[in-house]
Amino acid sequence: MKTIRLSIIGFGAVGQGVARSILSKNEYFNENGIDLIVVGISDSKGSEVDALGIDLENALNRKKQKGTVANGKESALEIIEHVEHDIVIEATPTNIDDGEPGLSNMLAAFNSGKHVVTSNKGPLALCFSELREAAEDNGVLFRYEATVGGAVPIFNLIHEALAGNRVIRIEGILNGTTNYILTRMTEEMLNYELVLKEAQELGIAEADPTYDVEGIDSACKLVIIANSIFKEDATYRDVDVTGITKITPEALELANKNNYVIKLICEAGNGSLIVAPRLVPKKHPLAVGGTLNVASILTDLAGRITIIGKGAGSIETASSILSDILYIARNS
Ligand code: HSE
Repeated sequence: MKTIRLSIIGFGAVGQGVARSILSKNEYFNENGIDLIVVGISDSKGSEVDALGIDLENALNRKKQKGTVANGKESALEIIEHVEHDIVIEATPTNIDDGEPGLSNMLAAFNSGKHVVTSNKGPLALCFSELREAAEDNGVLFRYEATVGGAVPIFNLIHEALAGNRVIRIEGILNGTTNYILTRMTEEMLNYELVLKEAQELGIAEADPTYDVEGIDSACKLVIIANSIFKEDATYRDVDVTGITKITPEALELANKNNYVIKLICEAGNGSLIVAPRLVPKKHPLAVGGTLNVASILTDLAGRITIIGKGAGSIETASSILSDILYIARNS
């Protein structure tokens, strides 16, 4: 049995989703020779550390009842640097100003010889090359499938299944919240504020929902794609971004009458990175509704491949994190 020890840094929707999925899946992983043990969890108010393995059921209940997992005082950095483990799951919220605290957490993990699996877009949208180099210099792995497209395996698909292809262009919808808002406004004629509130209640909006509606979240994801797939050295500031805040119910209705929908589309190719609302014909593959994400990838050998799936949500994002954990378990 290969034992993999993890810390979960950030215990919001994503961190808790990871804990829940480990609880429900570890027996199955055990049957496949892998045992996942969580030795540290931290949230904004404190932490829990147990070298023998935290009781995840207990930690989840404490979080639900008290709003924090804390029963100890170790900081995130103390856990990352001083508790012996293999993989740091970095799931703190995205911060697009300076990438913190995620950036320092990830660098500390690499510098103390630990692999990183993350859902946190901010550090990757600001300092992708620095992070990749820090991982390489320390001989550890850096996996970030959960940063883009929630459960949709964009990086795995392109780097593994489509290996050998050159990707020419990628376009898609990479933000579930705005897709949900535009879909509900079109189909139910509901107003913007009400639908945004619904998206927040579904747990898919960012901690600061202006990141969603102003296109910042989509832009971060596009930058990660540009860096990972097109090997560009882009940052969030290289994206031409327009959000959905100026889309009126009248515009949506007019589009609808003419058999179009308005979608917040991300486009990467030929060195340009654009996030903007676009008119999409209702029968077009990019016209997916609700919280769905879609990525349409144009390659030189395989032609066009389009994948659709759940782009946000606690368990859906945990699905991508688990796949990265298992990749590391098998390849390290
Ligand atoms: N707020 C994001 C979205 C979460 O709505 O897509 C997933 O990155």
